[in-house]
Amino acid sequence: MPEATPPDVSALLAGRRRILVTGGAGFIGGAVVRRLLAESDAQVFNLDKCGYASDLSSIEALPEAAERHTLLRVDLTDAAATTEAVRQADPDLVMHLAAESHVDRSIKGPAVYGSTSSPDFVYIASNVSGTFHLLQAVSAHWEQHAHRAPGVLPLPPHLHR
Ligand SMILES: NC(=O)c1ccc[n+]([C@@H]2O[C@H](COP(=O)([O-])OP(=O)(O)OC[C@H]3O[C@@H](n4cnc5c(N)ncnc54)[C@H](O)[C@@H]3O)[C@@H](O)[C@H]2O)c1
Repeated sequence: MPEATPPDVSALLAGRRRILVTGGAGFIGGAVVRRLLAESDAQVFNLDKCGYASDLSSIEALPEAAERHTLLRVDLTDAAATTEAVRQADPDLVMHLAAESHVDRSIKGPAVYGSTSSPDFVYIASNVSGTFHLLQAVSAHWEQHAHRAPGVLPLPPHLHR
């Protein structure tokens, strides 16, 4: 099978300049943030609670980070803080990559709520309620600021069926 060409970041963004990435201190979100910084001129707002899985060092090492990377240290389980972070970012694109992602723990205790300062048992709170808080906050923000286009990216051609 021929190797797919990676999509051009600036073309994919289609002029969107304020990008809110959740989980940008994690493995997948961090790669997205680094690529956005290196291959576009967008402002990147990185919403992350900065827990045990987080590491910002490879982002902070990029020269672009000083000007175009803003860390919003917020836990998505906190609806009011999430709303305030969305207001501050005023995004025209949101990429939601924050999640409690430790598979063994999520199987062992998926429904148990715990302290968000502990890595244990916060899957429903983070992944379900947190996603709901984010969707509510972004949808309310975009309703108030109709100039912001909803952030739906076109699929790159090689992903079309
Ligand atoms: N790692 C992979 O190979 C892979 C592959 C496919 C899909 N995914 C998916 O991508 C997503 C991210 O995975 P990852 O490997 O980057 O995980 P990760 O654990 O490395 O990073 C997740 C980040 O989300 C943050 N986070 C978690 N809960 C939060 C909350 N309540 N509020 C704010 N921030 C919070 C963490 O602090 C962390 O920095 C998951 O949904 C995962 O299932 C991962």
